[in-house]
Amino acid sequence: MKIAVIGTGYVGLVTGTCLAETGNDVLCIDIDENKVKKMQAGKVPIYEPHLDVLFDRNIKANRLRFSTNLEEGLDHGDIIFLALPTPEDEDGSADLKYILGVAEDIGKLIKTYKVIVDKSTVPVGTSDKVQAAIAKNATVAFDVVSNPEFLREGFAVDDFLKPERIVIGASGDKAIKLMEKLYKPYVRSGNPILIMDEKSAELTKYASNAFLAAKITFMNEIANFCEKVGADVDKVRIGMGTDSRIGKRFLFPGIGYGGSCFPKDVKALHKSGLDNNYHFQILDAVINVNARQKLVLIPKIKAHFNNNLKGKNIAVWGLAFKPETDDIREAPALYIIDSLLELEANIIAFDPEAMPNVKRKLGDKIRFSETMYEALENADALIICTEWSIFRTPNFEKMKALMSTPIIFDGRNLYDVKDVENEGFNYISIGR
Ligand code: UDX
Repeated sequence: MKIAVIGTGYVGLVTGTCLAETGNDVLCIDIDENKVKKMQAGKVPIYEPHLDVLFDRNIKANRLRFSTNLEEGLDHGDIIFLALPTPEDEDGSADLKYILGVAEDIGKLIKTYKVIVDKSTVPVGTSDKVQAAIAKNATVAFDVVSNPEFLREGFAVDDFLKPERIVIGASGDKAIKLMEKLYKPYVRSGNPILIMDEKSAELTKYASNAFLAAKITFMNEIANFCEKVGADVDKVRIGMGTDSRIGKRFLFPGIGYGGSCFPKDVKALHKSGLDNNYHFQILDAVINVNARQKLVLIPKIKAHFNNNLKGKNIAVWGLAFKPETDDIREAPALYIIDSLLELEANIIAFDPEAMPNVKRKLGDKIRFSETMYEALENADALIICTEWSIFRTPNFEKMKALMSTPIIFDGRNLYDVKDVENEGFNYISIGR
């Protein structure tokens, strides 16, 4: 099928590449000329496991192309995906200016029937707005479909190619048939393509992310409470998770959720509620608890150093908001670092992928190390902020030899408490 993807950010790029992978002819459009030039030269602009291989293969097969020309994209695609940013507005709502701007242009430029698919995460009711923006200028028939993505960073290619479900919000039969045909190759396993109205599809995305954020947040509160009463959150987590109604996943406590989706989507759903005369009280709590959780290690660190961190060398392992990504948006590590800098500590950090992004943001406020061990030289403490696999089985002997004081503040509960203590470390983690 002939597809255009407007916007080659994270979602657009994964969508375009994975749609090409099953044989579709995909043209991706972006206004950023530099980025388009780079992609035309075969360079993937983001870090995402496996994407580079698919990207390369489909460019060589001439199924994946790039352009800055919107009209060319609209002429090419029978199905037009909108994968445009919906940044957080000052009041927490999702800003639709990019989507609605492009929708108006689409109305002016389409010459034959098109299915316009909204992939961006948008508040309930956006598809009506997109419909109206296109209709303002359109002289031909079109359908608007809401098709939210559920891609996890680090697993996006797999999530796209083997989705647990595909959600299609649409009302026109023609559009529904086209979308089903497009997605059939991805659900051979029998996973469902769920057809529903546009508003329900839009809300499904927000409700899913907000629920997961709430699930994590609930566990973070249980972990905090475990510390008060001397319980072990690992035991509680397994005890709860074996109930199939609860499930084992997304019960891992830590230093809060971050990333480009959960924080923004929770706030946007909250705001969307208020706009529609509904106050999501549970989301107030999720937002507040998560903000507090990001800094949950700080009082523990301060207590260890008797409130005096001035000139202390603090090593930080992990900067990305989670492993397998270089994304530092809303990353707990950055909140922790800010707070330690205020206390005049010296920070030296290591992350396998995210250091260039942090360097751009923080400049020389902190130092970076080539290896995870180098960060530990003369360190007065180590803080673990991201659960990268390479941090899971470190050489504790070597660590102890390098550090001035063997103390680990672990925001991700990577190790068994007894094991690390037996290695001669003072080990402070979450909820244990
Ligand atoms: C999420 C959703 O999973 C995805 O479906 C949606 O499309 C986009 O948002 P992503 O932000 O890539 O994906 O990361 P995810 O793996 O879901 O983790 C989100 C955050 O929750 C991370 O900060 C992670 O560290 C945290 N988390 C996750 C926990 O603290 N505990 C857990 O048990 C799971």
